Amino acid sequence: MPDDDLQTLPGVGPATADKLIDAGFESFQSIAVASPSELSNTADVGESTASDVVQAARKAANIDGFETGASVLQRREEIGKLSWQIDEVDELLGGGMETQSITEVYGEFGAGKSQVTHQVAVNVQLPHENGGLEGGAIFIDTEDTFRPERIDDMVRGLDDDLLADELERREIEGTVGDNETMETLVEDFLDHIHVAKAFNSNHQMLLAEKAKDLSEESEETEWPVRMVCVDSLTAHFRAEYVGRGSLAERQQKLNKHLHDLMRIGDLYNTSILVTNQVQSNPDSYFGDPTKPIGGNILGHTSTFRIYIRKSKNNKRIVRLVDAPNLADGEAVMRVQGEGLKPE
Ligand SMILES: Nc1ncnc2c1ncn2[C@@H]1O[C@H](COP(=O)(O)OP(=O)(O)O)[C@@H](O)[C@H]1O
Ligand SMILES: [Mg+2]
Repeated sequence: MPDDDLQTLPGVGPATADKLIDAGFESFQSIAVASPSELSNTADVGESTASDVVQAARKAANIDGFETGASVLQRREEIGKLSWQIDEVDELLGGGMETQSITEVYGEFGAGKSQVTHQVAVNVQLPHENGGLEGGAIFIDTEDTFRPERIDDMVRGLDDDLLADELERREIEGTVGDNETMETLVEDFLDHIHVAKAFNSNHQMLLAEKAKDLSEESEETEWPVRMVCVDSLTAHFRAEYVGRGSLAERQQKLNKHLHDLMRIGDLYNTSILVTNQVQSNPDSYFGDPTKPIGGNILGHTSTFRIYIRKSKNNKRIVRLVDAPNLADGEAVMRVQGEGLKPE
């Protein structure tokens, strides 16, 4: 990728960047796979600078290669869990949606996928001890479904003790239930949700890159981005790449998009949530109506897959499918005016 900005690497100013580029090191990846002495010789930089630059490029290119089991463990220890605030579901997920991985929520139209994305954009802002990640959210909206009014409902719908904690943490004067106080609190929640509408699949992919920039910028602030959601991941791709002939290209683009998202998750310890619709034609001879769109590539990239279906009395069955180290199983929840609630 020639558009990598080498000057973002530590110790690399404009002059060194020019030398590197002249020597053929145009991307993070090409530097990441070079040895420090090779870099030092060909690009005329000091040995120790070269070593730092290679290290940083490996990080930036996300190809550190092998890690020791200990460092894998350390990284895994940093994994955060983002609660849905529904005990049964959290238990199913082993404590909540993990950071550093992609969770795919799929189901039919009206199943409640967008409700989940809204609820999680609220929950992520809560402190760790209350099941959140103490961070903000990025919402890439491809179907024009983001509704601040629903965030309002869901904030007000949080348990009173959680609300009391939030008022204190956000230094908002007033009491839970008082309308003016609640309006201020809702506004504060909305302030930490960054929404962008994606007009087509290319725009959606661009927004994922922007999401990375925003995550980077927010990292040192009081409200680092800790959740990125794409609702829906597949709608544009599905509408734009029709017919068998374009299937390969569609999968290739989706794959890159998911890879970009995964990288945000890895770099910033963020939870990635994407939604996906199931095949819409239940009569289709070949398509299984309970299979998500996107086929295998999506299956291999999303670490947690959750299938939601409607049941009686506004109940929703939440099924965990193919999780790497959790048992498959089901939980029940409701979609209510106040948000997602236990059965
Ligand atoms: N304010 C609300 N009060 C109660 N239920 C709601 C509310 N808003 C949405 N719902 C429920 O959520 C459903 C829509 O879910 P949604 O997340 O938009 O579906 P999907 O994104 O899977 O297509 C509605 O059919 C309704 O059952
Ligand atoms: Mg939706």
